[in-house]
Amino acid sequence: MEMEAKCSLLNLLLLLLPLIAFAAGVADTLGKGGNITGDETLVSADGTFTMGFFSLGASTTTKRYYLGIWFSVSTDAVCWVANSERPLSDKAGVLVISDTGSLVLRNSSGQTAWSSNSTTSSASVVVQLLDTGNLVVRDQGSGGTLSWQSFDDPSNTLLSGMKVGKDFWNGAEWHLTSWKAADDPSPGLYRRVLDTSGLPDFVLLHGNVTTYRSGPWNGRSFSGATEVLGYKNLLATMSVTMSPGDEVSYRYTAEPGVLTRLVVMDTGVVKRFVWSNSSQGWGWDTVFQGPRDICDNYGKCGAFGLCDASSVLAPCGCLRGFSPASPSSWSTDASGGCRRNAALQCGNGGTTDGFLLVRGVKLPDTHNASVDMDITVKECERRCRANCSCLAYAAADIRGGGGGTGCVTWTDDVVDLRYVERGQDMYLRLAKSELDKKFPLAAVVAPAAFVVAALAFLLLIWWRAKATKRNGPADSPRTPTMNDCSLDLATVKMATRDFSQSNVIGEGGFAVVYKGELPNGRSVTVKRLKQSVLADDKGKKDFAREVDVMANVRHANLLRLLAYCNEGGERILIYAFMPNKSLDLYIFGKPSDRARLNWRQRLDIIHGVAHGVAYLHQGSEESVVHRDLKPSNVLLDDNWKPKIADFNTAKLFIRDEPDVSIVVSPGYTSPEYLQGEMTPKCDVYSFGVTLLETLSGQRNGPMKRVVSNAREFWRQGRVMSLLDSTVALTMSPSGSEISSELERCVRIGLLCVQEAPESRPDMSAVVAMLTTRNSDTSVLPRAA
Ligand SMILES: *[C@@H]1O[C@H](CO)[C@@H](O)[C@H](O)[C@H]1NC(C)=O
Ligand SMILES: *[C@@H]1O[C@H](CO)[C@@H](O)[C@H](O)[C@H]1NC(C)=O
Ligand SMILES: *[C@@H]1O[C@H](CO)[C@@H](O)[C@H](O)[C@H]1NC(C)=O
Ligand SMILES: *[C@@H]1O[C@H](CO)[C@@H](O)[C@H](O)[C@H]1NC(C)=O
Repeated sequence: MEMEAKCSLLNLLLLLLPLIAFAAGVADTLGKGGNITGDETLVSADGTFTMGFFSLGASTTTKRYYLGIWFSVSTDAVCWVANSERPLSDKAGVLVISDTGSLVLRNSSGQTAWSSNSTTSSASVVVQLLDTGNLVVRDQGSGGTLSWQSFDDPSNTLLSGMKVGKDFWNGAEWHLTSWKAADDPSPGLYRRVLDTSGLPDFVLLHGNVTTYRSGPWNGRSFSGATEVLGYKNLLATMSVTMSPGDEVSYRYTAEPGVLTRLVVMDTGVVKRFVWSNSSQGWGWDTVFQGPRDICDNYGKCGAFGLCDASSVLAPCGCLRGFSPASPSSWSTDASGGCRRNAALQCGNGGTTDGFLLVRGVKLPDTHNASVDMDITVKECERRCRANCSCLAYAAADIRGGGGGTGCVTWTDDVVDLRYVERGQDMYLRLAKSELDKKFPLAAVVAPAAFVVAALAFLLLIWWRAKATKRNGPADSPRTPTMNDCSLDLATVKMATRDFSQSNVIGEGGFAVVYKGELPNGRSVTVKRLKQSVLADDKGKKDFAREVDVMANVRHANLLRLLAYCNEGGERILIYAFMPNKSLDLYIFGKPSDRARLNWRQRLDIIHGVAHGVAYLHQGSEESVVHRDLKPSNVLLDDNWKPKIADFNTAKLFIRDEPDVSIVVSPGYTSPEYLQGEMTPKCDVYSFGVTLLETLSGQRNGPMKRVVSNAREFWRQGRVMSLLDSTVALTMSPSGSEISSELERCVRIGLLCVQEAPESRPDMSAVVAMLTTRNSDTSVLPRAA
């Protein structure tokens, strides 16, 4: 995402100055001597915003009148209110420019209900409502200097181009304040402010108490609100200005033509709305809402706790190396947090402490943390290790990818840590004895026991992966020891009604798959390995491998392993339940099934799969090759988002390793893989086939029918013929738009299925090609 604001407010103003326009006879400007009263309004030049009087309150007798600004398309989307604390009792208020040049609202008896308090000596001062929704008071002489603007006095709404944060020069602070109630715009209980201490963090306060944080800014997004990275069609830029002592602020700019607003609701919820057209007609669509879940409640799991909203039973756990401070109350209230199990070993004689990687989190509160943007993460580790009071560190800026740059270090408690999709990495200081510990870890009191155990296991796996990497090939994943369970067998049995035949939803050569329901009502998929498979070592290894790989990956497009169980001769894996099953059922299904996935959804699925595979290949410490990517391994959640599954064949990728059993799915397997060469490029090939199949609705098969059709159509310049006719019939965007997008996709697909692995792009390049909007397809290298 582009970080610099495309055009500053100042530029915008300069551009607009000569354009004092009149839209449909309605002015956007009020001059000295003029006034606005009754039903009169100012309308911005392009018509987007309207300023005027509106009323709130139910009956005629209790109606209160306000001067405000709203979106012209939706009069109830009020984004700024002048006299929020002093409503007028009738419509007879008058807005004028006073003799001293301030904007003044007077009630019907001539008393001031609100004033901008700005002064200017200039005689030629005007008020103008800009296309951004900013109401400005400016001198027509002296280069159009602003003496006041509504963007400096925000209500409950952050519009495109507005700022939140602090100007340290003049002490100004921009923050949002909720209304008191839906029909009362006077200041309510909630404020949304940019915490400028540590890394900038967008926090929600109730009075003076923090209730929810977006997480620290990491150059790309706020680390706990990564959803915005998916709003590329809505937001052109998000940027944070970070010059401490001068200005620290955040703002976003919307894509041209997009109407969006971020509102602090009177209920203490932050919502982003977008004006959009749905089956119910035009309306405000809520695209984001925070806090999202229980884990967003500030400090939910206390100091050194870690919240996991997708956890099977209880959300709160302790970081590895920590245990609940008050075990007896932990299950009802975890805000007491966790205590270190073994003291750190650090002092004059140096330290033996190490760091534990905690992946995919919203970084803890950085209010008291130290930040240095100018060093590398390696130096950050050194700095933290050398200072005994440093308890954790993380990269401060992850824009450039990799491990990021910059350094944030915590010397206080680590507070408000949770897992999020596309979260960041944090390194936690632990005593060597804790890092060396083998599973099972020190007992933790139920019912959070399994959460902690699962977490500990996850971290242990990571540690093991590292250790194995150091010590040699990872060909033999460990065989989990007996009773190595993150969810006990009794619970699994209960969930599946003792593996009832009526709960079976699938069966393969290796496992029977059940639908289950946990005590908390959550539906899960339970994969129970067959005894015949477990009879030999390979089955046990496959189980261990799936646990190893799955426990260590967290990505929106990879199926999450929620729990596993290895008890009493059973090997069981528990995943989120995917109500829409797998992609192959739709793309190869009967016409009515095919029609359920329209063009846009198919494109989204292709993008999602690409992101997931790219993450596997390079998102983690070690590269993981899936090895069996195909539509039947792409599951669809209730929003038709793809989740790549079936990693039991995946393995940690170490190049010089003698292979390993080969998995072959005819039509999907790359030529070199058949010869035993296994690299991430094999997945790129399978991805290409999956892409072409998803578009064409035909199976490639051993004869590589789809691949050769695609090449042929491409050469003949009639790519449209490749598209599944069911999809072609139900096209929603314009045909030409589809045809150019389809052409891009097919081209990318063809690049992926080239015979020579070195000619294929790697997955990160595929993602870049798929997601670079409007990019000219001719810049893509020529397909074979
Ligand atoms: C508002 O302007 C109108 C003419 O445009 C004028 O007749 C009226 O007296 C003004 N009201 C006040 C309160 O200035
Ligand atoms: C203008 O000044 C008055 C009186 O000092 C104050 O109550 C009001 O909040 C100020 N208005 C603005 C917009 O700052
Ligand atoms: C920051 O430090 C203050 C003063 O020591 C303390 O009260 C507060 O809890 C700390 N905040 C965090 C997030 O650690
Ligand atoms: C350790 O870090 C703290 C907090 O950043 C700092 O105040 C202290 O001076 C550091 N100590 C040393 C020895 O560098």
